[in-house]
Amino acid sequence: MATDPQVLLIMGSDSDLPVMQEAAAILKKFSIPYEMRISSAHRSPERTMALAAGAAGRGVKIIIAGAGMAAHLAGVVAAKTILPVIGVPMPGGALNGVDALYSTVQMPAGIPVATMAIGKSGAKNAALFAIQILALADPRLCEALVGYRVEMDAEVEAKDAAVQTS
Ligand code: RP5
Repeated sequence: MATDPQVLLIMGSDSDLPVMQEAAAILKKFSIPYEMRISSAHRSPERTMALAAGAAGRGVKIIIAGAGMAAHLAGVVAAKTILPVIGVPMPGGALNGVDALYSTVQMPAGIPVATMAIGKSGAKNAALFAIQILALADPRLCEALVGYRVEMDAEVEAKDAAVQTS
């Protein structure tokens, strides 16, 4: 999905792909055009900054940045754009994502990053949060989000019924 992306998904490495695909799946479910890129704050800093700086001019509305270890990707991206940036700390490494969580969430005042949970839950929620922002100006998306919550409610009810009959 590369035409007129509304959401830009950036990750620091292809090793982050299995987690970030959870965000992509949610964006697909809600028919949000997105672009997925690999760019590292440490290994390819110029490329990363150019990607962030050029995003708004290409019509991107929100950026989701996922990285692990000393995860500076979301912060560096946020420093180069006034688009909202949502950070997803990756699990793995010696500290299993706690390092990335702190690196992503502890932004200095002035450059915010909306930080989600570590790993797949965080990636899913990053996409849902992006959709909630887009829904402020799109009643169709508001309805779709309400429908998604109704679906979740029905799933819990079905699980409750199943556990009672087992
Ligand atoms: C970070 O370092 C990436 O976001 C990734 O989570 C982590 C490890 O990268 P690889 O060594 O697997 O490429 O920059």
